[in-house]
Amino acid sequence: MYLSITQACLRDFCQPGIFYSNLAVLKLFNMKQIQNIEEYRAEYQKSIENPESFWAEIAQEFLWYKKWDNVLQWNFETPEIKWFEGGKTNICANAIDRHLEKFGDKTAIIFEPNDPNSPSQKISYRELHTSVCKLANALESLGVTKGDRVCIYMPMIPEGAIAMLACARIGAIHSVVFAGFGAESLKGRINDSNCKLLITADAFHRGNKKIALKEIADEAMADTPSIEHCLVYNHINEKISMVAGRDISWHTLVSVQPDTHEPVAMDSEAPLFLLYTSGSTGKPKGVQHTTAGYMIFMAYTFKQVFNYKDGEIYFCTADIGWVTGHSYTLYGPLLNGGTTVIFEGIPTYPDHGRFWDIVDKHKVNILYTAPTAIRSLETFGTEIFKTKDLSSLRVLGSVGEPINEEAWQWYYQNVGKNRCPIVDTWWQTETGGILISPIAYATPMKPAFATLPLPGVQPLLVDENGNEVKGNPAEGRLCMRFPWPGMARTLYGNHERFKQTYFTTYKNLYFSGDGAKRDGNGMYRITGRVDDVINVSGHRIGTGEVEEAINSHDLVVESAVVGYPHEIKGQGLYAYVICVDKSGNVHNLPEEVKKIVSDKIGAFARPDKIQIVPGLPKTRSGKIMRRILRKIAEGDISNLGDTTTLIDPSVVDKIVEGALNQ
Ligand code: WTA
Repeated sequence: MYLSITQACLRDFCQPGIFYSNLAVLKLFNMKQIQNIEEYRAEYQKSIENPESFWAEIAQEFLWYKKWDNVLQWNFETPEIKWFEGGKTNICANAIDRHLEKFGDKTAIIFEPNDPNSPSQKISYRELHTSVCKLANALESLGVTKGDRVCIYMPMIPEGAIAMLACARIGAIHSVVFAGFGAESLKGRINDSNCKLLITADAFHRGNKKIALKEIADEAMADTPSIEHCLVYNHINEKISMVAGRDISWHTLVSVQPDTHEPVAMDSEAPLFLLYTSGSTGKPKGVQHTTAGYMIFMAYTFKQVFNYKDGEIYFCTADIGWVTGHSYTLYGPLLNGGTTVIFEGIPTYPDHGRFWDIVDKHKVNILYTAPTAIRSLETFGTEIFKTKDLSSLRVLGSVGEPINEEAWQWYYQNVGKNRCPIVDTWWQTETGGILISPIAYATPMKPAFATLPLPGVQPLLVDENGNEVKGNPAEGRLCMRFPWPGMARTLYGNHERFKQTYFTTYKNLYFSGDGAKRDGNGMYRITGRVDDVINVSGHRIGTGEVEEAINSHDLVVESAVVGYPHEIKGQGLYAYVICVDKSGNVHNLPEEVKKIVSDKIGAFARPDKIQIVPGLPKTRSGKIMRRILRKIAEGDISNLGDTTTLIDPSVVDKIVEGALNQ
C-alpha cells in the first residue's frame, strides 16, 4: 500500500496540488540550504516580512493528506498558537515512507551498543519501515488509538525510536521517560497524562552499570491505574516477572503482525508528544508538541544548522529521553532522509576514547553533544587524539547549556582540528527545536555565543519591567515576539500553567527564562537561567558569567556559583569548584580563582567563598541542581530535598562535609 503512495509522490511531485490516494503531494523534499551570510540575511528578512508565506513554502515540501486552510493563527495572551490548521499529515510517513522509493536501502539508523565488542547494527529505511509498521499494528491490536497516551521507558536502542515512530504513525501521543529516572518519576509522569500503555525493556547496561528497567517499571505500575498493558522488549535476556493479562512480550506480539500499516492522517495541531521537564518550581510539566509545526521546524532547522548533506553520518549523543534526542537524534535526521547514530553507552566506557572510537568506526561527519561531555573529556587530556582518526568530521554541535570559551576552544582544536565549524545551538524543551545558532559553513561563529536567530525566529531582550532593550550591545531576558512552528502549544492538562510560566511575565511575549547578551554585531550569548541570577550589592551577576571566568583557570574543570544571603551585600557569591587534579596542590587556588574573576568581570563579581569539591550534583541530563548548592551555601543542610534524580547523590554528602570543614 505504501508503495503506491510513494510511487505517487515520485510521479506527481512536479504537478503541485495533485491529490493521489488521498495524499496531497506537492513537491519532493528539496529545501534549499543557506550558503552564506547574505543568503541568511535574505532568508531571515523574508521570514520576518512574511512569516506565513515563508513557512508555507517550506511546508509544501512535505507529504500532506490534506492541505492546510490557514498557515498561522496566534495570540500570546490566552495563549493560542495554531500552525497549518485544517491540514492533515503524519510525521512518521514523512520520516520514513517518503524515503522508501529513493532511499529504501539507505541506512536510517546505526546502532552502537554499550559494549564495544558487541556488533553494531545498521537499519535501512525499508527495515525501519517494516519494524515500525509491525509495531504500529501491534499497538492497535492492544486497543491503542489516536490521541491515547503511550509512555515509552526504553534504553537508548533502536526499539525506543521504533516505539516513538509507531506511536506517531497511529496518532498516539508518546511520552518518553528517560531510562535513568526512577520509579517515582516514572509513575508521576504516567499518572499525569493517564497513559494507557507502557513500553519498556527487560534491562540494559550503561557503562558498567546494569539498570533493571522492567523491575523499576513494575514498581511504578503498582500505582498507575490508567495502564492497561505493558509491552516488554527483551533486550538482554534478563530474568523478569511478567504480570498475566497486563504484561506482553514485544517479540511474541510483534512477530505475528503484518509488515505494512497505513499511517493515520493527523490534524496539523494534533498532539504528537509530551515530554516532561522540570521548572524552577512545582512538579515536572508535560510540555506538549503538535504534529505539523514540529515536523516542519525540526526538518528545516536540522538541515540548515548542521548543513546536512545527503549520505552523511550524523551522531547526536543525546538520549531519546530528552528533547534533543527527540528532535535531533530522531525526527530531524529521519525527516531529511539522513543516517543517525543511536548510541547506548556513555562517553567514558570502556574508556574516555569512546566517542572518538565511534566517530572513527562509523566515519561520523556531524557530531552533536553537550558541553558537560566535552568538559568531562577535557579532563583526560589530549593524548588520546593521537590514536584516533577524526578526519571524517565536518560539523560539531553543542547543546543544553552555555559552552564556556575554554571548552569551545578545546572542542574546536582537538576534536574539530581547527577546521570544523561549531554550532552552539540554543533552544529548550519548550521551543521544540533550535532557535538561535550559527548555521554551519554559512554564518559566523563566535566562541561561547549562540550567535544569530534562525530564520523565522524573532528574539528580543527585555529588562525586568518588560521593556525592550534595543540597540547593540545589550543585555536582558530572552523573549520571543512571534511564534515559530515548533513551539510547544500547552502543558498537558494545565494550560493555565503554560500561560503563567511563559506568557504572563512579559505581555505578549514568550519568556524563555534565560538571560542573554547581544554584542555589537547583534550576536546572542546566552548567560544562563535568570532564576539563577544573583544580585550582589545591587549588581546583577550571571552565575554563568562567573563560572566561565573561574573555568578559564588552568586548574579548574568546572564550577557552579550560587547566591547566599550576605549581611552587607544582600547576596554573596559561593563558588563550588572542581579542580583538574583531584589529588593535586590546590593551596592557592581559591585566591587565584577570586583574582581571575576580579580580572575578567570586575571586583564586584569576586566570589566570597570558594569550596573545592570532587563533583557537582548533576541530573542525568547534565544540569547542575543548584537548589541543593544554594541550600548548602546557605548553611541549611537539614533538608536538601529530593536528590534521587542526581547521577551521583553521594556527591552531595561530600560537598556538605567539605562545607562544614571550611
Ligand atoms: C540551556 C535543551 C546556553 C538554557 C535543548 C535553556 C543553553 C535550557 C543552550 C533548556 C546553549 C540550552 N547555550 N544555554 N546553546 N542550550 N541551554 O529544556 O538555559 O533541557 O533554557 O533543552 O538549557 O534546557 P532543555
